Amino acid sequence: MSNPVDRRQFLRHSAAAGLGVALGTMALNGCANASMISTKPSHLTTKPKDLLKVGFVGIGNMGTGHVRNLLKIEGCQITAVCDIRSSQTDKAKKMITDAGFPEPKVYGKDEDDYKRMCANEDLDLVYNAAPWRYHTPICLAAMKNGKHAASEVNIGLTVDDLWELVETSEKTQKHCIMQENCCYDRAEMAVMNMIKKGVFGELLHGECGYLHDLRGMLISPTYYQGMWRWHQETTLNGSLYPTHGIGPMGWCMDINRGDALDYLVSVSSNARGLHEYAVDKLGADHELSKTDVACGDVNTVLIKTKMGKTIICKHDTHLPRPYSRDFLVQGTKGIMRKYPSAKMSTGHGWEDFKKFQDEYEHPVWKAMQEKAKGAGHGGMDFIEDYRMITAIRKGITPDIDVYDSVVWSSLIPLSVESVKNNGKPMKIPDFTRGMWKKPRKLGIEEWLV
Ligand SMILES: NC(=O)c1ccc[n+]([C@@H]2O[C@H](COP(=O)([O-])OP(=O)(O)OC[C@H]3O[C@@H](n4cnc5c(N)ncnc54)[C@H](O)[C@@H]3O)[C@@H](O)[C@H]2O)c1
Repeated sequence: MSNPVDRRQFLRHSAAAGLGVALGTMALNGCANASMISTKPSHLTTKPKDLLKVGFVGIGNMGTGHVRNLLKIEGCQITAVCDIRSSQTDKAKKMITDAGFPEPKVYGKDEDDYKRMCANEDLDLVYNAAPWRYHTPICLAAMKNGKHAASEVNIGLTVDDLWELVETSEKTQKHCIMQENCCYDRAEMAVMNMIKKGVFGELLHGECGYLHDLRGMLISPTYYQGMWRWHQETTLNGSLYPTHGIGPMGWCMDINRGDALDYLVSVSSNARGLHEYAVDKLGADHELSKTDVACGDVNTVLIKTKMGKTIICKHDTHLPRPYSRDFLVQGTKGIMRKYPSAKMSTGHGWEDFKKFQDEYEHPVWKAMQEKAKGAGHGGMDFIEDYRMITAIRKGITPDIDVYDSVVWSSLIPLSVESVKNNGKPMKIPDFTRGMWKKPRKLGIEEWLV
């Protein structure tokens, strides 16, 4: 019988003990956890449903784009919206009624009102694009009230929370999905197709990350509601936004589908850029200029997979630089890198990737590109929303399941712990409890539209 308290204490002690002990005792993976969790890991399928009723929480920069997408996707209806700012629920209400749907129920009287929405509303899915600290509690409230849960990027900030999401999804038989749009970007999808077709030979190494000069947005009093993201940067030092990198790389490397992330080490540079920027833009006496920035300007995570591949995942958001996700895959027959411009090589020189993009365009991208035109981030945001809604309607396992969601998110707490301990190796929990060993196709290989 599972005892959540014992299990969490066990996990906490195991994590603190680090890789050495973990390797010796199988802590954080395999049989040790299997005996402590009451339900079995599974690739959850559910009863097909024609119409999904959706409650949307957090209608800010990204949430607004998702609401717009959902209004265009067949078989779903947003019947409830929740945001602590009435300006945002008003905006969503107008978008929904302008699109010809009935007015949604509105929630948001306080920061916990999503709980009332989850308890009171007849919904199939609760989808949130709220600040990070709410992702786990919103997903838990949804599942415990019989709804599927989806979260815009990282689904949790602690290893305990990630286990609780897995446990709750298994117990309630509800999906718990981390939406990661970068899995659906065009070049990455073509590369996934090339990998499956053997163009890279045996895959050995990947590089990825989130490298985006966010300084202006981070110090803005209005860009992120309540400056929630500044708060993250000033309290945590590690890889705070790994999923844009590790998501697509996880798909390329069959993580949870024949391979698994085994352990990581992480180091951060000094934190200088955000502070200098605040002083420059706001003056040395400004409150933000006097606040210590916790997160190093460049954080690097180095990962080894159980089947012997290596991955570098970077986080770099405080320095002047062009946008990049550093996407690179390398195998015995070739190498591709996406930034600063997409190139491929099977020898000593680089070739333009365009020829490969045309030849290996992913069938899902081909099938979706018309529908996705004009949507956020070059169309990939629409594709991710369409795929999630359609999978749930069909009753099949979504492309990104609870195990992908938690293992990708786990890079945050594990990198923070590693940085805190001078780059100490951290075992990455096997949330699948051994299910990763079974090769399994990606959703994007199994069905088109
Ligand atoms: N995938 C991408 O390309 C991408 C791009 C931008 C943001 N994001 C992600 O989207 C999420 C939201 O980021 P954002 O930039 O839209 O932030 P934001 O601050 O613009 O939006 C957050 C919204 O949540 C609301 N909110 C805050 N607390 C709430 C609560 N307790 N209950 C209900 N509503 C609440 C806020 O009022 C705000 O409208 C984050 O996870 C972020 O990392 C992803």
